[in-house]
Amino acid sequence: MSRKILVTNALPYANGDIHLGHLVGYIQGDIWVRYQRMRGNTVHYVCADDTHGTPVMLRAEKEGVTPEQLINRVHGEHLRDFTDFGVAFDNYHSTHSPENRSYAEDIYGKLRTADLIDTRAIEQYYDPVKEMFLPDRFIKGECPKCGAADQYGDNCEACGAAYAPTELKNPYSAVSGAKPVLKTSEHYFFRLSDARAVDFLREWTRGSNTLGVRRLQAEAANKMKEWLGEEGENKLSDWDISRDAPYFGFEIPGAPGKYFYVWLDAPIGYLASFRNLAGKRNDIVVEDYTDAVRAEASDTEMVHFIGKDILYFHALFWPAMLKYAGYRTPSQLCVNGFLTVDGAKMSKSRGTFITARSYTEQKLNPEWLRYYFAGKSNGTMEDVDLNLDDMIAKVNSDLVGKFVNIASRCAGFVSKRFEGKLAEVDAQATAEFSAAWAAGSIAACYEERDYSRALREIMHLADLANQYVNEHKPWELAKQEGQEARLHQVCSTALTMFRDLTLYLKPVLPVLAARVEAFLAIDEMRWGGEWQALPSGHVITAYSHLMTRIERKQIDALLEANRESLAPVPPATAAQDAKVVSSPQRHAEKQQHSAQSAETASEQISIDDFTKVDLRIAKIVDAQHVEGADKLIRLQLDIGETDTEGKPKPRQVFAGIKSAYDPATLIGRLTVMVANLAPRKMKFGMSEGMVLAASDPEGKTGGLYILAPDDGATPGMRVK
Ligand code: MSP
Ligand code: ZN
Repeated sequence: MSRKILVTNALPYANGDIHLGHLVGYIQGDIWVRYQRMRGNTVHYVCADDTHGTPVMLRAEKEGVTPEQLINRVHGEHLRDFTDFGVAFDNYHSTHSPENRSYAEDIYGKLRTADLIDTRAIEQYYDPVKEMFLPDRFIKGECPKCGAADQYGDNCEACGAAYAPTELKNPYSAVSGAKPVLKTSEHYFFRLSDARAVDFLREWTRGSNTLGVRRLQAEAANKMKEWLGEEGENKLSDWDISRDAPYFGFEIPGAPGKYFYVWLDAPIGYLASFRNLAGKRNDIVVEDYTDAVRAEASDTEMVHFIGKDILYFHALFWPAMLKYAGYRTPSQLCVNGFLTVDGAKMSKSRGTFITARSYTEQKLNPEWLRYYFAGKSNGTMEDVDLNLDDMIAKVNSDLVGKFVNIASRCAGFVSKRFEGKLAEVDAQATAEFSAAWAAGSIAACYEERDYSRALREIMHLADLANQYVNEHKPWELAKQEGQEARLHQVCSTALTMFRDLTLYLKPVLPVLAARVEAFLAIDEMRWGGEWQALPSGHVITAYSHLMTRIERKQIDALLEANRESLAPVPPATAAQDAKVVSSPQRHAEKQQHSAQSAETASEQISIDDFTKVDLRIAKIVDAQHVEGADKLIRLQLDIGETDTEGKPKPRQVFAGIKSAYDPATLIGRLTVMVANLAPRKMKFGMSEGMVLAASDPEGKTGGLYILAPDDGATPGMRVK
């Protein structure tokens, strides 16, 4: 019986590029979808950009565009990246859409009717200059536990402590630099602490779907147990679903100046994208997938692929919202772990914060990554390590050395000696192949998302195929008199084996598989029915090269393209992606940084050497965060230079001082710069010099100090 499944991937935020970390979950989802379709199941695969919230609003402002312009541009970029990596959504929509507004209003209205919405006044930090309430991530200050400077309002990246923004010492707004003040405002809450919701969630999170599959992986179910507490206990608090203007999002009906918090309408975006898809087609009845009663009657499924950092939203708020609004709840959550590269958190300074775009721009084959990620995906929430040397070895040995090699050693003889016509296969040689097909264990691996095991079984069959070719040596048979028939059979048999392997790999390597289908002149391969060899007399086309090897130098170029390198940058303390950090890793990374920064005694130089360096007093006339850079501040430095019309012409310099300074506090200050450093083109623009800063060789938090001249120095003065 054929299944009807709505599959989604988490909606990426519209304020950042897609990187290889994101791709782990998207590739896992896409493989599953392709497998289900090969089985003949009906799958609707949707996603969208997650567009609302403060970060998008502020980023648009900084770029001097409207939020709508920003999200439109990013939508195009994200869709292009997914397409390049073979992640083939049926629809890629946006949470800033009429469908999403209408679902959000409907769900909210029904929750109100169910008496699950409350209002209450809360006190929060407010930026009096920018005139807005500040999300935790936009408040910085000193850690209340360890005193580290420049920590975010929710947790400390130096000591790992979690706290409320009001506990920070010397707090300041990361938006304006102003000191935040406490201000009261009325908020809307989803009453998750209601006994009904708690009981429902306890049941839901440990339950199974209609196919008898657990809705949550074991690890996820355990996490939920922790969050929900023991039977009779109630650990859930109500969920704050409103934000005050200014906010980029949907205004709450009947509540002027109040907006739905981005996480309220984000998962609703799954439904919105699906409805938008249905509007472009005539074979989808949306309610059969979304309405509680109709979904049950029509036996549809809704499966969400998400990363582990957003489990809380998807296993608590989301099912509860759906349930009490009369919508169907998810059939299954497929949660992936986080990506590390060469055993460490992705890092901009090491070049391992790799964007999807840079990967394709460097002309690396996206299917190499799909294959590698599949080999690392076992259906659990474990983190996934992208070991670059291992990826090179795996792809080269499995795909090029084992898989493609079978066809490349046999196809030529069939074309040249037998006009492309195949002979009867050797049934004894293919026995293990037909048995594997009948056993269906590779299919079961895909179903359970244990792609790693699927690939191991497939590579075992590839080994058998290679053994067969090695034993019968078509290249020798070709030289022997009277061995024509044998040669013909050996090559035909090997090509049937190759066809099987391609079918098994197709969910992972759709582009390669399509090329093999063209080469073998066969229909799109499906999963099901009796095993059959390629028939005798079938005519194949000429073989052309299927896949190249990865070279280490391509990977090095990729790292180089992503490296955010800089003049003397002291050890960084700001993590770019706090949610990825686990303490042992952070510890390891710290040590690495301090090793790099350990100072060695310098060699002596002459005064002439020294005077080659043109040091100038510079006035910082502007300082800005650099979007996408975790260490850099973009400085405009006045050293008294002017343009042809005599107008001041400051120098642009990117300085790696973000861990220690808030840009707003730098404006107007005097410092010292190297004015005759060769300009350097960086990812973010030209850097026309360097500012001087002292740093602490131990790499302790905040150990970074830019130089300042004594009173009386003016911009442009030479420093000797
Ligand atoms: N916008 C939210 C999701 C809303 S879903 C209704 C979000 N966006 S995100 O851009 O930060 O992440 C998108 C997906 O990528 C999430 O599933 C997230 O877990 C995943 N990942 C982001 N960084 C990742 C890694 N470094 N490694 C693995 N998955 C990662 O969260
Ligand atoms: Zn701390």
